[in-house]
Amino acid sequence: MGSVIIGSGKSLPKRVVTNDELGQIVDTTDEWIVPRTGIHTRRIAVEETATDLGAEAALRALGAQADGWQRDGAIDPASLDMIVCPTLTPDTHFPSEAARIRERIGAVNAVCYDMSCACSGCVYGLSTADLMLAGAAAARAQAAATGAPMRCNDVRRVLVVAAERLSKLVDWEDRATCILFGDGAGAVVLEWRDEGDAGILSSYMENSDDTERTLWCDSAFTARTVPFDAEQGLPEADAACDPYMRMAGQAVFKFATAAMVRCTEEALARAQLSVDDVALFAPHQANERIIRYAAKKMDLPLERFQIIIDHVGNVSGASALIALNEALCEGKLKQGDVACMTAFGGGLTAGSCVFRI
Ligand code: UT7
Repeated sequence: MGSVIIGSGKSLPKRVVTNDELGQIVDTTDEWIVPRTGIHTRRIAVEETATDLGAEAALRALGAQADGWQRDGAIDPASLDMIVCPTLTPDTHFPSEAARIRERIGAVNAVCYDMSCACSGCVYGLSTADLMLAGAAAARAQAAATGAPMRCNDVRRVLVVAAERLSKLVDWEDRATCILFGDGAGAVVLEWRDEGDAGILSSYMENSDDTERTLWCDSAFTARTVPFDAEQGLPEADAACDPYMRMAGQAVFKFATAAMVRCTEEALARAQLSVDDVALFAPHQANERIIRYAAKKMDLPLERFQIIIDHVGNVSGASALIALNEALCEGKLKQGDVACMTAFGGGLTAGSCVFRI
């Protein structure tokens, strides 16, 4: 019984950007970037919108487009009850990115919303979708037992699709951040099943206050004046509002390494499993050194981690969903295997999710 992954997809923009190309716009080199981060190339959306990327990842997860993974065959978009889109870079403030993807894929029965939880979006997306599915299953049982109507939406299938164009938030003159990030999308379809032992086994989410502004991006709206104060006059965009993401690299590194281990252990404890029960870890990909550190701390060989940062960079909440998709498509995860997804990011957010394929 549980929320079973029945589809998985990814989408990456066409344009590959090498470290040498970045060396032409900021003072950096391939020799600096590779050993410090593990990144060789990333994809940057020149033509694609977040909706293009999200819709393609979703269609692949549904089996409506080639190169996705399905557990039991193609999934009808009209059977989706909900679309959850973790994103920092929706194409429009509203409608939500999830609603835009709904329209593109023909998910005519889905209710949609976006989530802002930075790079933890994959785990927060899966965990909250699982809570929705489990809550709806309980409500169905209650309605059946009492003869009363369903007290909430009947949610049986949820699409979680993280779609990011982080290149819009990157300061392309800041070598400390512009080398790290890329664009792309990752998607999974979850279905509630009353039978079987596949599905999400446990989840754990946490927040801590980012009092030192270690990972930050001002909104275009935060610094605007309003017209109700006579002394301030009419609203104007505040020139001091910084539109780019900012990061205190070493502080985030410290938070990330601790969060990776803490959240993985917490989620595994909730599933009453140990690291030895996990066939594959699909972690957030912010820096290969963070993954190496976590592997060492948990006494695990690096081969148990799906690493994609070399060709994708950091794609925020989409990273681990892309990693999961590549592992499934490469046949590294079979039915019955246990996998673990752990992520951390702005907020500060962190979390982990354990599931059986
Ligand atoms: O998902 C979002 C979460 N983000 C993260 O998890 C990022 C976590 N942090 C990191 O991955 C690392 O801190 C970075 C990769 C961002 C930086 O690596 P670092 O080993 O912490 O470098 P650093 O910031 O200590 O900088 C070392 C030196 C500095 O020069 P000086 O002051 O020693 O002369 C930097 O100015 O490297 C310099 N530097 C660069 N040099 C060449 C910083 N960025 C670059 C660059 N190319 N791109």
